[in-house]
Amino acid sequence: MKNRDGFSSKMGVIAAAAGSAIGLGNIWKFPYVTGTNGGSAFIILYLVAVVLVGLPAMLSAFIIGRATHRNAVGALKDLAPGSKWHWVGQMGILGAFLLLAFYSTVGGWTLEYIYASAAGELSGLDTESLKTFNSQFIADSTLSIFWQAIFIIATGWIVFFGVQKGIERYSKILMPMLFVIIIVLDIRALTLDGASKGIEFLFNPDFSKIDRNVILNAMGQAFFSLSVGLGTMVIYGSYIKKSENLGGIASQISVADTLIALLAGVAIFPAVFAYNIDPGAGPGLIFVALPNIFSQMPGGYFFSLIFFILLGVAALTSSISILETLVAYCVEEFKLKRKSAVFTMMSLLVIAGIPCTLSFGPWADHTVFGKTVFDLFDFTVSNLILPLGGLALLVFCGWIMKTETVKNEFTSFGKYGDALFPMFYFLVRFFAPIAMVLVFLNQLGVFAK
Ligand code: PHE
Repeated sequence: MKNRDGFSSKMGVIAAAAGSAIGLGNIWKFPYVTGTNGGSAFIILYLVAVVLVGLPAMLSAFIIGRATHRNAVGALKDLAPGSKWHWVGQMGILGAFLLLAFYSTVGGWTLEYIYASAAGELSGLDTESLKTFNSQFIADSTLSIFWQAIFIIATGWIVFFGVQKGIERYSKILMPMLFVIIIVLDIRALTLDGASKGIEFLFNPDFSKIDRNVILNAMGQAFFSLSVGLGTMVIYGSYIKKSENLGGIASQISVADTLIALLAGVAIFPAVFAYNIDPGAGPGLIFVALPNIFSQMPGGYFFSLIFFILLGVAALTSSISILETLVAYCVEEFKLKRKSAVFTMMSLLVIAGIPCTLSFGPWADHTVFGKTVFDLFDFTVSNLILPLGGLALLVFCGWIMKTETVKNEFTSFGKYGDALFPMFYFLVRFFAPIAMVLVFLNQLGVFAK
């Protein structure tokens, strides 16, 4: 316990788990994948995935963690000794590493936008100049690798000094502030000329846009945004007190996480249509769309600066959870000292992050399976490792763990625990895993006519 005591206080754990979930996944990734997947119909699939698959998987992760007090690999070894289940944990570790490698590219962009906002470089620029600013910056390898390294070092610094608790204390104030500033942006965005087109894109479903890739992308995004499938939530679960209501915590986190993603969408798409930005523009979308809103509102300089600072904090509270997943694994499974674990991982990540960042510059044309390194890492994590890890958590909790143990952990779900358990158990044993297997088979073309 001592090695991971950064997460030991009660409110701290919940704030840390919420901080892990709410991050770039909500504000950067959700809008851009909504854009590249055709809008509203994708959002419906995403919401269905959060409720019927993501939330039960998060709860399963908490249950596995709290029943064992171990990291994901150790927990699976404890609960199914001598089996191959721990490989699921190892896959999650690989996923966490790949995830942080490309997450830090975007973390670095956020830092650059804090700097640019502070220096007034974005003030008064029109849409074309903002697009140029973005494309020049992300293609400038030296500058973007510099910011990426700073982002990784900042993450490592926080984990190294074990100051998560401090960060959590601040994030309890800063995350509500992020929420408020997004609402302000929503109001500004909704009053732009041409806002209605954006709202239609978000909420008027066009089911012809759904194909098998869209379905898998929606499921992957649900796991990405909820931080479920890599072992992160297993670790948080291991710190949650026995008296806490796991179902309540998982539901609150999922609602807050989804709400922030939707509100970010409402801030971005009206602007996308009002300023003639391509909704399918990809990873740069928010960095082009939002500065347009800032430059059109009173106090834009101030809002832009505060927004990017808060986005940076949200990104950090997620990245520390990813690094913590890697570090807890090295410490508990390899008996590495915490300091060496942090340092080794940080150095490897700085190296592995470089090709991700170069994907937007000189390596833009270097593709594997038609994808840049950035896209390949993202695809591997979001569409393969996270959903497969999530599926494994469900199957493990539903079929491998003793019903008694699962029920014991679950029924701390307040007075409704006993009543809700059969529904949860049905979702975990049958509905969610079967639905996920069908999505995978569909992706492989099994149901193609
Ligand atoms: N959920 C985080 C985000 O939305 C990313 C994350 C995924 C963090 C998986 C930890 C584990 O930004």
